[in-house]
Amino acid sequence: MLQKIKESADYIRPLMPNQPKIGIILGSGLGGLVDDVKIEREISYKEIPHFLSSTVQGHKGSLIFGKLNGVDVLIMSGRFHYYEGYALKDTAFPIHVMKALGVKTLVISNAAGGMNPTFQIGDIMLIKDHINMFGTNPLLGPNNDEIGPRFPDMSQAYSKRLIKIALETSAKLNIHVQQGVYMGVTGPCFETPAEYRMYHILGADAVGMSTVPETITARYIGLEVFALSVITDLGVVGQVEKASHEEVLAAAQAAGPRMVRLVSEMLPKM
Ligand code: HPA
Repeated sequence: MLQKIKESADYIRPLMPNQPKIGIILGSGLGGLVDDVKIEREISYKEIPHFLSSTVQGHKGSLIFGKLNGVDVLIMSGRFHYYEGYALKDTAFPIHVMKALGVKTLVISNAAGGMNPTFQIGDIMLIKDHINMFGTNPLLGPNNDEIGPRFPDMSQAYSKRLIKIALETSAKLNIHVQQGVYMGVTGPCFETPAEYRMYHILGADAVGMSTVPETITARYIGLEVFALSVITDLGVVGQVEKASHEEVLAAAQAAGPRMVRLVSEMLPKM
């Protein structure tokens, strides 16, 4: 693992135009963020040793170095999901590479189904905590203590400091935000009404098919994490409607500009 991380990072390092401390993972339909980025270098996943390539429509596959609101960022445009058939460990591999390249803080975005009855489609939810419902974990297997601890702490997976900055920034920009618990599931089916109900009873406000393995990996290696969901469909008792990937993408795209404004305004304060 350490060797693979080193080989990927060694390939990328000479191509880096800047030294970003902040990494950003773009979720479904949120690729519009890239339009606001002053791109300085784009590297296709295909050319990076040991990187997987994304198989999902609406997800691209490149690392982008650039500036957003004057701040150096390293963007993963396109992420890997467990439902694509990869090992969970492998979906989170790029996060190890980001750390090897100097990233300290990870911003994660996703599209999610809202189960909290006060949520509406298009809402932005700041993730306060998560529940890992994947039934597996990206850290399974022999541990390398040089990478991270065997039993990593998850008592504050999502940085309170960054949530505070997000709340102050959203108030200043007059962007309405929700806060809640994200349930990470394998997918690829959307939930049945009974599943949405169960997940809400279990303590989650939104459900999606990513982010949890990425956060676990990032915390394991000591990165600070800030994550946010765009609520793209509702899994509220009595209101569950047919969900489709197209609707999820459309709702995420509609909310995208608000999310981009929030994140880019936060960057200089992070
Ligand atoms: N469930 C799971 N994943 C999702 C959903 C959902 O309702 N919406 C967007 N991603």
